[in-house]
Amino acid sequence: MKITQVPLGPLKSNCYILCCEETNQALVIDPGAEETPLIEAVAGYDVPKVIATHGHWDHVSGVPYLQKQFGSILITHYAERECLKKWSAEKNLDIKLGDFVGEGDLITVGSVNLKVLFMPGHSPGHLVLMEETERWLFTGDLLLKGGTGGANVSGGNPDDFVKSIGRLRDLEGDWTIYPGHFDTTTMAQERENNIYIKFKVKEAKAVDLGAE
Ligand SMILES: [Fe+2]
Repeated sequence: MKITQVPLGPLKSNCYILCCEETNQALVIDPGAEETPLIEAVAGYDVPKVIATHGHWDHVSGVPYLQKQFGSILITHYAERECLKKWSAEKNLDIKLGDFVGEGDLITVGSVNLKVLFMPGHSPGHLVLMEETERWLFTGDLLLKGGTGGANVSGGNPDDFVKSIGRLRDLEGDWTIYPGHFDTTTMAQERENNIYIKFKVKEAKAVDLGAE
């Protein structure tokens, strides 16, 4: 399995492309814009599925490209559908809703297997995706290096946010964190350096990303 990370769009949202070289298929997580790095990363692959950790526009604006080009099925949580509809209308995005998943579901494309963790708070249906063999976590805007995406954004809920952050922190062992913005990190580093993880703060505040 090959992983490619490409920051896309005005907020440089991280898009991840997981490729299975045996079946020549790719699974895309959070395509934030239709831009050359995404188009190049998926060229030559089939892309049957695209996952949105959540429905904020900066994580889904590249979905229409994948749906037009590959007929990709959008996978997200049911609670994100209103958010997806809102941003589709406001940003004039032709996003087709697809399959809904929840806690414990497995998403498979070729040899790529991701387990779904339902972790609301930044948005009502926010997902974290776990690759258990490599010990990778795709944390969307729930956990970023040294911070979080916060709960004071469209659809956020501070109580859910604190619960989800605590649950993430209490996962056993170390994990490589592939966040929705900024650099890759590890859970061990975040347990040391990230006050939201270290002290499990009661007040959920956002890192200022300039937008949602
Ligand atoms: Fe977000």
